[in-house]
Amino acid sequence: MSKAKVEKPVDRLTPAAAKLEAKRLAEQIARHDLLYHQKDTPKIGDADYDALKRRLLAIEARFPDLKPKDSPTGAVGAAPAQGFAKVTHARPMLSLENAFDEVDLRDFFAGVRRFFVKPEDVKLVEPDAIALVAEPKIDGLSATLRYEHGRLVRGATRGDGAVGEDVTANLATIADIPKQLRDLAAPAVVEVRGEVYMTRADFLTLNRAREAADGAVFANPRNSAAGSVRHLDSTITAGRKLSFFAYTWGELSQPVADTQWKFLQQLKAWGFRINPEARRIVGIDAALAYQRALGERRAELPYDIDGVVYKIDRIDLQERLGQVSRAPRWALAHKFPAEQAQTVLNRISIQVGRTGALTPVAELEPVNVGGVVVSRATLHNEDEIRRKDIRPGDTVTIQRAGDVIPQIVAVIEARRPKGSAPFQFPETCPDCGSAAPRVEGEAIRRCTGGLVCPAQAVERLRHFVSRDAFDIEGLGEERIRLFFDDGSVKGPADLFALESRDRASLTPLSAREGWGATSARKLFDAIAERRRIGLDRFIYALGIRQVGQATAKLLARNYGSLLAWRAAMDRAAGDPEGDDYRNLVAIDQIGDKVAADILAFFAEPHNRAALDALAAAITVEDFAAPAAADSPVAGKTVVFTGTLTTMSRPEAKARAEALGAKVAGSVSKKTDYVVAGADAGSKATKAAELGVQVLSEEEWVKLVGG
Ligand code: IVH
Repeated sequence: MSKAKVEKPVDRLTPAAAKLEAKRLAEQIARHDLLYHQKDTPKIGDADYDALKRRLLAIEARFPDLKPKDSPTGAVGAAPAQGFAKVTHARPMLSLENAFDEVDLRDFFAGVRRFFVKPEDVKLVEPDAIALVAEPKIDGLSATLRYEHGRLVRGATRGDGAVGEDVTANLATIADIPKQLRDLAAPAVVEVRGEVYMTRADFLTLNRAREAADGAVFANPRNSAAGSVRHLDSTITAGRKLSFFAYTWGELSQPVADTQWKFLQQLKAWGFRINPEARRIVGIDAALAYQRALGERRAELPYDIDGVVYKIDRIDLQERLGQVSRAPRWALAHKFPAEQAQTVLNRISIQVGRTGALTPVAELEPVNVGGVVVSRATLHNEDEIRRKDIRPGDTVTIQRAGDVIPQIVAVIEARRPKGSAPFQFPETCPDCGSAAPRVEGEAIRRCTGGLVCPAQAVERLRHFVSRDAFDIEGLGEERIRLFFDDGSVKGPADLFALESRDRASLTPLSAREGWGATSARKLFDAIAERRRIGLDRFIYALGIRQVGQATAKLLARNYGSLLAWRAAMDRAAGDPEGDDYRNLVAIDQIGDKVAADILAFFAEPHNRAALDALAAAITVEDFAAPAAADSPVAGKTVVFTGTLTTMSRPEAKARAEALGAKVAGSVSKKTDYVVAGADAGSKATKAAELGVQVLSEEEWVKLVGG
């Protein structure tokens, strides 16, 4: 469509111009729909029709108010919000057996030959006589398209091969997918299958735009194609440039061809794109030559491929061969070896994720690996670096294997510079300087400066103000990011200084874009309301690893006040054998691992400073035992052991807590009562040793009043 060339980009349209154009487009689409569906006399090609629809979708995506209820894009945008409907494939969508070298390839065809016994069939599949269709194996995702009486009625993903997802609306936005078969004499039911993919050029354009917008780039063209096809909002899919090659069939109400090759020609006649590299070849040697030649031109192709697919040409032979488990006996994927290259590792940088995990990244001297310039590779974690003894300055072999981010396969030790030393993984966070210890049993180091670390700050602040924590209304991620980026909120205590600082500011919040006097006032009020907070909420808000609401409550109940908790944690950190540590891990459900995370939090000076600042800005209320203070067990520490008969352990525990008791998991000097059910073991013995009062279940029930 020549008009498309002079079209103004949608993001530069004024609302008035957009309105006019949306109306014009809707009318055009409606007219073409009519010509197409009811009169069978389309006046424009599918590509032009799709272009009209894509443009309308893009306009509606930018100006949602312009979208009328009966918009021709309506059906497309109607995907259920929870996910896609399931589609059971009439014929399963199979996968392929892989061959990695000539031996595998010859083995496969030897198996095919053994399958046949009649000499005339065996002759057809001799190594130098077998007729095959060879074509590239596209690195995309397969899709199946159902046409009834020539009309596209449903498109689905492969899913697990038996059941896929209904992504009709999304697939319908792809220009290469005809909405109507060109041949009116096509069988009543035709299911066409093929590969949805994104060209490398379209992938790079998309990623550049994403990088500029929010930095969330796709790892490779296949992921971006899959993400686009499976996006719940088809207006997003419509904005992505996806392509499609058709290569096989599913359900057919009547046979279409007697060979694979003829079927491909039929697909072309129906209006599909088939891969221009597809060839009908004869003999295994020709197959090997095809694969080798394509491998050499791999980087020149506009899309990623990871091998070649061979299919036995004669469909009657295909049918007799059938399938083994989930792959046909008549087709084979001949993979290319993983693409490797050598380059120099300039340095190892450390990235800090939103949860504080430190991830090492190899910064490489840029190198071309199979047509893609690679300058970074993942190093996984500290152990991986040590295991492979990877050092900055090393020459390394890197590999790009299909969908994964490049990896370092090995170090070429002979080329190691003199005087190099093993890499020392940092023990502190490169972003905030806080300690980054390794959690026992995990391969990763984690920054403990959650409250102050810029890499984690926004996420932590979001948690801090969330409903179950400080519950500050009107402070979503976007606003937090705004305050963080302009420097007004670096840590949680800064929230409480926002208003006073704002009064002194030259550009008060109320004068900023998107704000007014009312919204600023509302936010300040919402913050001020939370200057008093209960200890349990406060602890939860700190976002200490593994300290969720339940654990925060346990801590609050056990220590009562912020002051007492802090002091006890300081002492526990100083003496892991001492009473304070033992009391901490004696709390039911707090073990060594949770304790380690809590103590790591307190050990970090940045966190202590953040706590001091908070304590100065707000009032943390002591934990109020929910039960009447005159309950006989209020404030007492109780341990349950053995099997209880009148109630379950969780119920006993809940009841005790409701009466203001603290329930501990192990017996210590601080325990007031051990309630011993049937078969009570070592805990009852220990209680006796320590002189702790042991109650029978009956006595306990009597004590707490039935
Ligand atoms: S034929 C029964 N042809 O490879 C045959 N598959 O590993 C079904 N693929 O799920 C597949 N390019 O997504 C065939 N030219 C091609 C292909 C191709 C890519 C994918 C397809 C399939 C996977 C199996």
